[in-house]
This record gives sequence, structure tokens and C-alpha cells, in this order.
Amino acid sequence: MIELQAIERRYRSDEVETTALAGIDLAIAEGEFVAVMGPSGCGKSTLLNTLGTIDRPTSGQYLFGGRDLAQLPESDLAQFRAASLGFVFQSFNLIDELTIEENVALGLAYRKDAGDRKARVAAAMDRIGIAHRARHFPHQLSGGQQQRAAIARAIVGDPKLILADEPTGNLDTANGEQVMNILTTLNDSGSTIVMVTHSPSHADMAKRRIDMLDGRIIASAVRAL
Ligand SMILES: Nc1ncnc2c1ncn2[C@@H]1O[C@H](COP(=O)(O)OP(=O)(O)OP(=O)(O)O)[C@@H](O)[C@H]1O
Ligand SMILES: [Mg+2]
Repeated sequence: MIELQAIERRYRSDEVETTALAGIDLAIAEGEFVAVMGPSGCGKSTLLNTLGTIDRPTSGQYLFGGRDLAQLPESDLAQFRAASLGFVFQSFNLIDELTIEENVALGLAYRKDAGDRKARVAAAMDRIGIAHRARHFPHQLSGGQQQRAAIARAIVGDPKLILADEPTGNLDTANGEQVMNILTTLNDSGSTIVMVTHSPSHADMAKRRIDMLDGRIIASAVRAL
């Protein structure tokens, strides 16, 4: 599904150049659940944002379903993101002024082909166990519930790939477990997931673990079943 070849990402400010990704080669097949680990600053978020086309590599090739994304103009990339990707972040990034169901519906905002939007939003909230909070506002929900709403927003468009950057980073143990169980269930029903985490036990719930250091992948191991 995904192939990264010799991906580099360098940031240049006045005098200093930072290399966030120093040559990433990575293939991810459909149905995988990949955990990305490594110390702060090693490039995990940059890798995830590159996969999400939020960030453009300085050089290298990114193939998604055989398509070379590095060549696409921004307008096509926006369409690609809307149709194919779901994002979950450490901070839930819900919009305070919108209800939970309105927030979830944002996951379909850029979709022209969404069909019955109301039914899809209801189904996504149901699936993630947040339907009873549909008319509430984000501040009325616990952190765990807010993250579940964010996951519902990520999956409402039925994305090919879910990208999660420290999705349990702001949650206590119990809510973190619940979010991990939801991601595992989504993966069991076919979603491909790439998740950045600092938690070894959460990484162990993924099918494959990638370790990064200084902008490189230093290990990739499939979990023994
Ligand atoms: N906009 C930017 N401008 C300059 N340097 C940046 C920028 N964004 C990230 N970097 C640098 O790129 C490197 C990788 O950052 P990244 O955010 O990917 O790390 P990370 O592994 O996600 O860390 P953390 O675990 O703390 O979230 C860091 O050295 C960081 O300082
Ligand atoms: Mg990060």
C-alpha cells in the first residue's frame, strides 16, 4: 500500500540545518498495525506527517497505492487526504464551538461522495461508543471521550490509512487502554494503522514495531503471535 524510498526531510533556518528524516525506506502493507517508537526529536512526527502529506519530504519518493504523491500539487493532495486518510493526534484537536456530532461530521467535510452524512456520522459515533454524547460540546467530555470523538472523526470517511501521533499521550492508563482497544478493533476489521507512541506496552499491541533514532529506522520487528 505504502512505499517510502530514501525519504529525507531537512529544515533550514538562517544558519542551522536540522535533518528530521535522514533517509527512510519503509514499506507498509494493507492491514498492518505499525507502532513507531524512539526518543524525543528522532523524527517520529515528521515521518507520520510525511505519510499524511501534511509535510513534504526534501527528497525521496512516496508511493501510495502505486501513485507517486511527491509529484502531486497541493489541491490533489488535499483531495487524497480527505478520501484516504484519518488523523488522530495527542491533543484531540476538537473544535470547542461545535458539538461532538458536528466535530465528527468534519471528517466528511471535504468529501463530495459521502452519501448519507448523518447516517455515517451516527454509525461512526456508535462504533466508537460516543453516540450518547452526540449533542454535547468537547469541554463537557472527559479526555478519553474527547479522544474517542476524535477517532470517530478520523474514521467516519472510512479511510484507507489511520495515522495516530501519540493518541494516548494525554490520557490516563484506563482511557489509554480503551483507545488502544478501539485501534486494535479497527485494525481487526481491516483498517491499516500507523501509530507513534512512547508506551512500550501500547507498541506491543501493534503487529509491527519500528524503532527510530536520529531520523533513521534502526529496527523493524513483527510481533510474534
Ligand atoms: N518546523 C520545524 N523547523 C525546524 N526543525 C524542526 C521543525 N519540526 C521539527 N523539527 C526538528 O526535526 C526533528 C524531528 O522532530 P519530530 O517532531 O519529528 O520528533 P519526534 O520524534 O516526533 O519527537 P517527540 O517524541 O518529542 O514528539 C527535531 O530535531 C525537531 O527539532
Ligand atoms: Mg512527535
